[in-house]
Amino acid sequence: MNSRYLIFSILFSFSAASVQAGPENVGWPGDYTSAFTLYFSGDRTANDKQMIRIYANDTAIAGVKADGKLPFGSVLVGELYAVKLDEQEQPVISSLGRKIPENLSAVVVMERGKDFDAGYAKHLTTGDWEFAVFSAAGQKLDKDITACRTCHHPLVDKEFVFSYEHLGSGG
Ligand code: HEC
Repeated sequence: MNSRYLIFSILFSFSAASVQAGPENVGWPGDYTSAFTLYFSGDRTANDKQMIRIYANDTAIAGVKADGKLPFGSVLVGELYAVKLDEQEQPVISSLGRKIPENLSAVVVMERGKDFDAGYAKHLTTGDWEFAVFSAAGQKLDKDITACRTCHHPLVDKEFVFSYEHLGSGG
């Protein structure tokens, strides 16, 4: 075996042993509707034809109550609902002055784990959170998660979580 090949195989076995970054690190959060805490429900800021309901697992809630940090093992789940539209494709507003969530269109998930940022460029790091998107039925969708990371990346002071101030509230 020549030495160049030897070095290559050593390097290769090292990289195979380290954590592989990517949405594969995030699994379907199972029975989150009963096991997690629903802490936010409202209009989406980025899309006026959608609403979002956000759940956190016990690890995230306990962390935020203890010291405001979200430890490894924290999982946040966002259910994206398409709202009811009128004939002009505008959101129907109920007599309560609210939009009406109609169909669950996707489930976005963030999970925090050791080295989940490994291998990403600095501008895409998100404090070791990884991102994934699932269908309403729980099937992982083959989405490019670059946009997820880009948008959540600047939120260093809020643990990279947009709804941070709502975490630990009554929901
Ligand atoms: C354009 C910016 C933007 C992009 C891109 C984006 N998000 Fe978010 N995300 C938000 C905002 C803003 C919220 C707060 C709720 C809302 O207004 O929709 C949020 C909320 C969330 C939440 C609930 C926890 C929290 O941070 O409040 C999860 C989970 C989430 N996003 C996952 C994802 C995933 C997965 C992707 C990529 C498929 C993604 N996001 C892409 C802006 C973004």
